[in-house]
Amino acid sequence: MKTALRVFAILCLLIAAGVWVATRTPSSPFDGRPASAEISIEKGAYAARLADCVACHTAEGGAPFAGGLAMAVPMLGAIYSTNITSDKLTGVGDWTLAEFDNAVRRGVGRDGRRLYPAMPYPSYAKMDDAEVEQLYAYFTRHVDPVAAPNRPSEIPAPMNTRWPLAFWNAVFSPDKPYTPDTSKSDAWNRGAYLVQGPGHCGSCHTPRGVAMQEQSLDESSDAYLSGALLDGWYAPSLRGDPGIGLADWSEDDIVAYLRDGRNRHGVVFGSMLEAFNNSTQFMTDADLSAMAVYLKSLGPSSQNRRTIVTYDRADILRPADDAGAWIYATRCATCHGADGKGRAPSIPPLAGVSSMLADSPESAINVTLNGGGRLVKGGLPDLYRMPQMRASLTDAEIAQVLTYARGAWGNTGGAVDPKKVRELRNTTDPASSEVIILQMR
Ligand code: HEC
Ligand code: HEC
Ligand code: HEC
Repeated sequence: MKTALRVFAILCLLIAAGVWVATRTPSSPFDGRPASAEISIEKGAYAARLADCVACHTAEGGAPFAGGLAMAVPMLGAIYSTNITSDKLTGVGDWTLAEFDNAVRRGVGRDGRRLYPAMPYPSYAKMDDAEVEQLYAYFTRHVDPVAAPNRPSEIPAPMNTRWPLAFWNAVFSPDKPYTPDTSKSDAWNRGAYLVQGPGHCGSCHTPRGVAMQEQSLDESSDAYLSGALLDGWYAPSLRGDPGIGLADWSEDDIVAYLRDGRNRHGVVFGSMLEAFNNSTQFMTDADLSAMAVYLKSLGPSSQNRRTIVTYDRADILRPADDAGAWIYATRCATCHGADGKGRAPSIPPLAGVSSMLADSPESAINVTLNGGGRLVKGGLPDLYRMPQMRASLTDAEIAQVLTYARGAWGNTGGAVDPKKVRELRNTTDPASSEVIILQMR
């Protein structure tokens, strides 16, 4: 009897603690503090570039930052990004700095509504106070107001209850901004801050756990940035993994890729375009170098197979004796070369690149079906893009040609199953590889 009472008392306490966690509005360093009026538009606009707010808060064909872009929550349904223009009724125009901070760094909306982590607040939580103030000034004072009410989520009741997210939040989202590591250089610290915080690179490049949380939010675990599959694209390892990661990339290679969209190893395509078109190309060279310094300090991941690639010439002269080799010779070799070396920096090699080495074949299949997507550099669309093969090659042919390429010239990616091609054909849409590009004033 006594134990039963004790268990009951503990349960009551737990429930009370739960209700407290789930309903409490977190405190913000800005509580009761007025926003500074002095912040320059350039600083605010740059912070918004670093954090790539436009990529999610703009619908196709919609006004910048007016929200309405559908995003899938796994197993539940679609939610919609919100209006973050300066409109006072439907946007964030009359939010206080503390309310804005709670949404951006804590995942708590104005009415205490918990936000889904489709909004990358676990990364933004690492942003420092100054960055948040700059963002606030930009969105509430410089972005044109657009009246557009937020669309409710399509998640059916009772799964649309939001308070359980408070627990997710308490466990998986940091509650402190980035703290510099004094044993490291200034460049390393700036790079770590940008990659982990505003840049939210891990939201695509870090594998997720059972609760869809990123397995790590910093370099303390080697799962961090070790490569992950999201929305039909495989974002490869950004660590020192040979072949499938950045072991053979120099700091200059990384800077060129993020600034120009291309280098001798590869060209930006797929969902990386979201980051390139609206964010990384606008970063200063100093910031890009800092990110390169940080990324180059990350060792290989124990989660990844060690992929040592030795270029094999034998496949150049190999007669097109199998169906895959024949499709390659007739449909791909004019651009990527019979030797698989491409024509850098316009056309990437297929020998030794991550899409040809990763266990996950999704990026290779997706780019062959749907093309590379629209890359815009300095306002000009890129002319040399991977053509869509959706209409001209069958599932079996795509599987054959990729099985060939993922095994040629020393590549070790492994065979591609036509079922996987069919699955991606049915779940991807070539039109959606159009990425919104914002001319920001
Ligand atoms: C990867 C996509 C993504 C990015 C990048 C992103 N957001 Fe969001 N944001 C969302 C989604 C989706 C929601 C709605 C979440 C929900 O309904 O639970 C949201 C919600 C919000 C809200 C809450 C609005 C409300 O009415 O409750 C604010 C404020 C916000 N975002 C601001 C920003 C700012 C500022 C940035 C850049 C620093 C940014 N977001 C970047 C996806 C994103
Ligand atoms: C929306 C998802 C997404 C985000 C956010 C993202 N990436 Fe990527 N990234 C990808 C995908 C998918 C690829 C593979 C396609 C390609 O090579 O262009 C990729 C490729 C890369 C590559 C080339 C790797 C290789 O082996 O070819 C680098 C370098 C890179 N990303 C760096 C970054 C950095 C730095 C950030 C943060 C500032 C970032 N990415 C944010 C999805 C993303
Ligand atoms: C007209 C030239 C052209 C042809 C033909 C072509 N490609 Fe591409 N491919 C490109 C370009 C350019 C890119 C870089 C992404 C982009 O710009 O769209 C690319 C990228 C790729 C990638 C991603 C490489 C990476 O960095 O990971 C793969 C995989 C690929 N192509 C496979 C193929 C296959 C398979 C064929 C034949 C069925 C083919 N390509 C035919 C131009 C071409």
